[in-house]
Amino acid sequence: MRSNDVIHFCPPARVVIGCGSRAQLPGLLQRLGYRRGVLVTDAYFTGHTPWVREYVQAAQACGIETVVYDGGMPDPTTTLCDAATRQLLEQLGQVRPDHVVALGGGSNIDLAKALCLTLVDGSPIKDFVGAMPQAPRCLPLVAVPTTAGTGSEATPGAILVDPENATKVAVMDNQLRPVIALIDPEFTYSCPPKVTADAGIDALTHAVESYLTLDCFEFDRQGNPDPGYSGRSTLTMSFAREAISLCARFLLRAYADGGDKEARIGMAYASHYAALSYGSSGLNAVHGIAYAVAGLTHKSHGSTNAVMLPYVLDELASVRRAEMLDVARIFGIDDADEDAAVGRLPMLVRDIVAKLGIPATLAEFGIGREQLPELLKDALQVTRLASAFPVADVPAAYARIIERAFEGRFLHEGALL
Ligand SMILES: NC(=O)c1ccc[n+]([C@@H]2O[C@H](COP(=O)([O-])OP(=O)(O)OC[C@H]3O[C@@H](n4cnc5c(N)ncnc54)[C@H](O)[C@@H]3O)[C@@H](O)[C@H]2O)c1
Repeated sequence: MRSNDVIHFCPPARVVIGCGSRAQLPGLLQRLGYRRGVLVTDAYFTGHTPWVREYVQAAQACGIETVVYDGGMPDPTTTLCDAATRQLLEQLGQVRPDHVVALGGGSNIDLAKALCLTLVDGSPIKDFVGAMPQAPRCLPLVAVPTTAGTGSEATPGAILVDPENATKVAVMDNQLRPVIALIDPEFTYSCPPKVTADAGIDALTHAVESYLTLDCFEFDRQGNPDPGYSGRSTLTMSFAREAISLCARFLLRAYADGGDKEARIGMAYASHYAALSYGSSGLNAVHGIAYAVAGLTHKSHGSTNAVMLPYVLDELASVRRAEMLDVARIFGIDDADEDAAVGRLPMLVRDIVAKLGIPATLAEFGIGREQLPELLKDALQVTRLASAFPVADVPAAYARIIERAFEGRFLHEGALL
């Protein structure tokens, strides 16, 4: 507890976690009175797993009819969302659904979140991009993640690609938070190594970035009585600390051996706990710059976060020294000299990124030096994230971070890696 905390904490209404917990879902939905649903997923789950068929049959036995949409794609676009809306409304006819179930990684969950808005009256999703003055009408979402990383099952936002200008746009409101987040770690057992790495480093980024972000008592809520994000508090930090500790134990293990069930379960918890932290505190420079890197390279969300995380940590070494020391200790950095321990943390994280098979510099990502000014400009334009970076001069800090991430250099180490 801190006496000056001002907390606005928005978790999902129900969180169900456990191996095999998927079997509980139809009965829970029946008890809550749901009768007609849309299940949003992708062809991997309908074609290669029994989970969709099993769910639809078990739901039917509970009196719940389900229409399945399996056209989900990685990094869904606004165009895909509008096409899915038209297809589903035609399929559904006069009967409107009373809930949406998302099965899949962050991409399917985000598409389902967007459909919760558009299926109400067929509006295009772009009508909901940007600040919504009034809480929107939307269908309740049940989110069932199959990757351990994005935490979209506990956040207020859906990230979509706008193909017209190749940027990512956010649809965001607390109304979009899933009413049920069901985390069955068994779903993640089939994730291939790259999906495990991308999602896992995303979870670690969420946990660390939210642990170090702007405090809730300094956060500008812009007069919103129901802010989606509102800065870190002792409540969000307790989830972040637990998530960091789980990532320290299980991230590399889950990547090295996908059959390591203890590690898979650990990462499923880590992902959700990280989301309970960042889903209310919000994020800052790692994601802000990563969105710009993704705009230039079209690389995956997790990998663009991964390349930036060590250099953002390096920049925060003096501003967030105590918290970085906590994180260093969690990762087993035991130098008696605290400054040395803090200084070693960005290098350790950079080693984890490399061990996950992800490029550890912007140059290795294929970005040219001449693109750095454009990258800086694009990153600073994501003002919601830039304004939560806890430093006095954000443009100067972003410029230093980008320069060092390009070269693979750390300020506090002073040497090329
Ligand atoms: N809304 C949010 O709060 C939020 C937060 C972070 C990321 N995101 C978004 O999430 C997306 C990334 O999500 P992701 O990392 O979960 O990957 P993903 O959802 O894009 O999935 C990647 C691939 O992995 C496959 N896959 C998923 N689960 C699997 C499983 N259990 N077994 C085998 N294959 C599986 C999918 O079919 C897909 O082909 C990005 O679009 C990002 O913008 C959203």
